[in-house]
Amino acid sequence: MKIGMFDSGIGGLTLLKEALRQLPDEEYHYYADTDHVPYGEHSVEEIRAYSDEAAGFLLGKGCDAIVVACNTATSAAVGMLREKYKVPVIGIEPAVKPALKLREDKRILVIATPVTVREKKLHDLIEREDIRHRVDMLALPGLVGFAEKGDFASPGVKEYLDKEFGEIDTSRYSVLVLGCTHFNHFQDILKSYFENDICITDGKEGTIRHLENVLREKGCISEGKCSISYYESGREVRDKERLDFYDMLMKHLEKVQDKG
Ligand code: DGL
Repeated sequence: MKIGMFDSGIGGLTLLKEALRQLPDEEYHYYADTDHVPYGEHSVEEIRAYSDEAAGFLLGKGCDAIVVACNTATSAAVGMLREKYKVPVIGIEPAVKPALKLREDKRILVIATPVTVREKKLHDLIEREDIRHRVDMLALPGLVGFAEKGDFASPGVKEYLDKEFGEIDTSRYSVLVLGCTHFNHFQDILKSYFENDICITDGKEGTIRHLENVLREKGCISEGKCSISYYESGREVRDKERLDFYDMLMKHLEKVQDKG
């Protein structure tokens, strides 16, 4: 199967990494919309247009399913994409439901982009699931720019997080939900702002499990040879330095996620 994934940038690698673990024999086409990153600071209409362009491009490559590897694009555009295209379109959303079951003692903090935090999709999800009103949300748009530069722990990142977390009492939380796929890269530093037993969770596993179920239903799981092609806003990435950058990021995810 050809699986297309898109994100505003490198965040969706979190899902690509998980897909390679659960579905190791597929042909992956990963689209980073580097011309328009960060999505979280664009309007919903713009995000819909960018998402449409990305999905259209991936379908042009012959993809049989599209994974919206971005919480922001899912919240703004997944409905439109499902209406417009015939292939399965799988989205990711902040893992509020599993987080509520993970720990019952303290509160839950969802960190995401301003669009995800503002949009109806997350508000509806919280309203539906969070009966005891334990969930809070915080937008951390500044992390996306750092992530795009491969900067996950510099003094600049720390200064930004000191400022953002300085305004809240982080000891009230026992679960942190990564509601933006870029944030997985920051797990080490994020952990340091919370009590030692903080649980960090995100929607990647459930999303890829859903993809696997959809492919199984269609009888489409491959047993071929895995391949990955990268694109940046419609241009295939061939530059060795850039490919090495993606490779470094995949290795970085392995390191941080295995710990988490
Ligand atoms: N990685 C994206 C997400 O999951 C969006 C980051 C951005 O471009 O603002 O929400």
